[in-house]
Amino acid sequence: MSTLITNIGELITNAPAGGSGGPSARADTEAAPLQDAALVIDGGLVAWTGPSAAAPAADEVIDAAGRAVLPGFVDSHAHLVFAGERGAEFAARMAGQPYSAGGIRSTVSATRAASDPQLGDNVRRLAAEMLAAGITTFECKSGYGLTVADEARSVAIAAHFTPEVTYLGAHVVAPEFDQDPAGYVTLVCGAMLDACAPHAKWVDVFCEDGAFGPDEARAVLAAGQAAGLQPRVHANQLGPGPGVQIAVEAKAASADHCTYLSDSDIDALAASGTVATLLPGVEFSTRQPYPDARRLLDAGAAVALATDCNPGSSFTSSMPFCIALAVRDMHLTTLQAVWAATAGGARALRRDDVGHLDVGARADLIMLNAPSHAYLAYRPGVPQIAAVWQGGRLAVGYV
Ligand code: NIG
Ligand code: FE
Repeated sequence: MSTLITNIGELITNAPAGGSGGPSARADTEAAPLQDAALVIDGGLVAWTGPSAAAPAADEVIDAAGRAVLPGFVDSHAHLVFAGERGAEFAARMAGQPYSAGGIRSTVSATRAASDPQLGDNVRRLAAEMLAAGITTFECKSGYGLTVADEARSVAIAAHFTPEVTYLGAHVVAPEFDQDPAGYVTLVCGAMLDACAPHAKWVDVFCEDGAFGPDEARAVLAAGQAAGLQPRVHANQLGPGPGVQIAVEAKAASADHCTYLSDSDIDALAASGTVATLLPGVEFSTRQPYPDARRLLDAGAAVALATDCNPGSSFTSSMPFCIALAVRDMHLTTLQAVWAATAGGARALRRDDVGHLDVGARADLIMLNAPSHAYLAYRPGVPQIAAVWQGGRLAVGYV
């Protein structure tokens, strides 16, 4: 059955200037949205877009009544397999305590103590929140198990909910290996990787003081690649460091956080296929400075926005919140922020079927309760997702 959505006040397709090709073609992060537009969904895909007046007939017609339609958000960075919560740690930070990677360990204890169904329920609950916030594709990492068995069940549980599963055994050194960090890296690159690789697409490492150093990070990425996984890196989150350069060197799909970037980090990203994935929820929740996204775009780097949903540094599942922060505090225009949260996320996951609404794309789309995408930042904190279609199916809302 085909569906025509007509009378769309503003339609963002992310089609690159000069034709189709999806987000893997040249990025036009500020292509003007179509006005008074229509879109046809057929067989779960986008079948047609253009002016309302020229729309073809369809089995079902939905009147958008002037509201905005955009691609579903692609959240390329989230940690949803965990138990417990760290509200008190957040409150202490807001009272002046600094954030440190060490807090991860309290979630590790809670996660190890939880049953598989409890962990699965947590992912299901957060994935439902994400969908209600317009996220139609999300990535999900392990990294709160840190034993072979707990990492293996973490990736297996994540794989029930998304194809974008990331093995993050190298999140922090497991407490049992406090005195033997090299032994932990050997485990991460050996038995733990063997147990996790069948369920994962990606390998990630937290390259930071207090987590893993440059040589350890290189070893983890190389072992993951040898096992068929593609690299991505937690880089330059808590201070300047080698993470971004290591990500670029490894031809990683993405360097994530990028809170502290040198000019040479920016040049390296701009000259590479590695996306700079920015996570403004983290800067918000840890009182770190916001990176200047405009500087990255001006240099020619590709930028993605993601939630980093996790119980420690960014417990939000709201991409609209991240867009509002990126516009207000990272100096993206409203259109650039929407591009980063859709096509940028798709590029960070090396996906060309999502993040845009060219003909042939997956029909993952959002209708706002607003006439323009700018309302996502203009009305911060106000739920504005009227409806979400996933693979052509109305998954949230009613029209
Ligand atoms: O992306 N940076 C490392 N990992 C998470 C934080 C995890 C935590 O604090 O539990 C992040 O910010
Ligand atoms: Fe993270």
